[in-house]
Amino acid sequence: MANDLVRFSVAMPESLLMRFDALVAKRGLAKNRSEVVRDLVRDAIAEDDCQIPGEEVMGTLTIMFNHHSGDVREKLDAIQHDYFEQIITTTHVHVDAHVCMEVIILRGDASVVKDVANMILGTKGVTHGNLTITSTGVNLLGLSSADFAETLTRR
Ligand code: NI
Repeated sequence: MANDLVRFSVAMPESLLMRFDALVAKRGLAKNRSEVVRDLVRDAIAEDDCQIPGEEVMGTLTIMFNHHSGDVREKLDAIQHDYFEQIITTTHVHVDAHVCMEVIILRGDASVVKDVANMILGTKGVTHGNLTITSTGVNLLGLSSADFAETLTRR
């Protein structure tokens, strides 16, 4: 059956295994080596799926900016209104008297979500930030990872 567990062995340097065991310990009593390896493989597959054209993703974009810096707030607002279909919600935190943090949650085609994030990150006045995305498992073009792998091998 597709979900039956299959055993395989992995060789790695002892020093890497020691660090891996420390990571397993940090994740708590409910996790063992096998479960952490499965989590890491699922993360890698979800990240890889984000490369497939039409892949739908959820993203969180965290940015920091100084609200006194030029018209940064107006520019950020304009971008978010232009892409209201991709932007689910925005949380604004006043970090101190000058600095603001926004966490913007996005949903849509991976390439559009990345473009919107780059526009926001590239807005003058945004000092830094980062985008984290994960696949919803839905492909808006109906492509599967196998279809995409096939198009790559045909090149
Ligand atoms: Ni603020």
